[in-house]
Amino acid sequence: MVEDILSIKAIAEEEIKGANDLKAIQSLRVKYLGKKGVLTDKIKSLGSVPKEIRPEYGKTLNETKNHIESILNQKESFFKASELESGLKANRIDVTVPGNFIPAGHKHPISRVLDEIVDVFSSLGFVIEEGPEIELDYYNFEALNIPRDHPARDMQDTFYITDDVVLRTHTSPVQVRVMQKNKPPLRVIAPGKVYRCDADVTHTPMFHQIEGFMVDEHISMGDLKGALELFLHAIFGEDTGVRFRPSFFPFTEPSAEVDIACVMCGGTGCRLCKGSGWIEILGCGMINPKVFEMVGYDPEKYTGFAFGMGIERITMLKYGIDDLRLFFENDKRFLEQF
Ligand code: PHE
Repeated sequence: MVEDILSIKAIAEEEIKGANDLKAIQSLRVKYLGKKGVLTDKIKSLGSVPKEIRPEYGKTLNETKNHIESILNQKESFFKASELESGLKANRIDVTVPGNFIPAGHKHPISRVLDEIVDVFSSLGFVIEEGPEIELDYYNFEALNIPRDHPARDMQDTFYITDDVVLRTHTSPVQVRVMQKNKPPLRVIAPGKVYRCDADVTHTPMFHQIEGFMVDEHISMGDLKGALELFLHAIFGEDTGVRFRPSFFPFTEPSAEVDIACVMCGGTGCRLCKGSGWIEILGCGMINPKVFEMVGYDPEKYTGFAFGMGIERITMLKYGIDDLRLFFENDKRFLEQF
């Protein structure tokens, strides 16, 4: 009987030797060691083996089972390793191949300049406020000292939604909204979109402005000049000439327009500055006491300055862009330059 086991062992060894892939090993494992495997069957029927030979028979059976198991395992790990190796060879990864190029986005030049302007004023302690683009006539005009029949309304071609509601024509209404809600001292900048019924080579119906204002006791025209000169030098360069020219806005008194020395000719006169050497860049002034009265501030106690500018215009002058439409066409060849 012991011989039976030894001959099973010899056959199994022979078969395992001849197996030449993982699959063959797996089916041999089932054949000899599976639930209904040849050796498993022998173990199950151990009870019917005569007592006298049972110890030796059992020992041989057990040794054979362990032996077969171990040579199966050996061969199996050999096949697994060579399968992995040939898989790696077949799907070789070349780590030196350059990766796929994923183009990065660019900040729009308008956003870029807006961020720069905000940075300069933040460093002076100004905080950002925002107001609605669909605005009450009251905030856009009335409270800024522009009554219904005032000729100044013709300065700005307004989109009316109803008699009392407009698309804001400038960011100045944010002055009124902020002052109504807060007590001085105030240092605020208010960027945003504004709308005017106007479209030609140098005008689009929507454009961006940034408003700034400061209110406290003893604020003077000198503070206004200092802040704006610092700002314009930061944006256009330390040596840029800056001049203040008397002007008129209903919500500031006195009012001024600020020019910088022409960015193209430096002041000698050219096509861009129409020979004057200067380029108008923003409007400003001391906040009109009438506006303070509208928001309930004491005009005897408080003074303040305000200014407003178009961001498209500043961007065009800063980067030498000569066509406003480029900002809105989203041509990547243009946008990628910034
Ligand atoms: N709101 C004015 C405009 O749009 C600019 C301005 C703002 C002027 C603040 C004076 C003070 O033209």
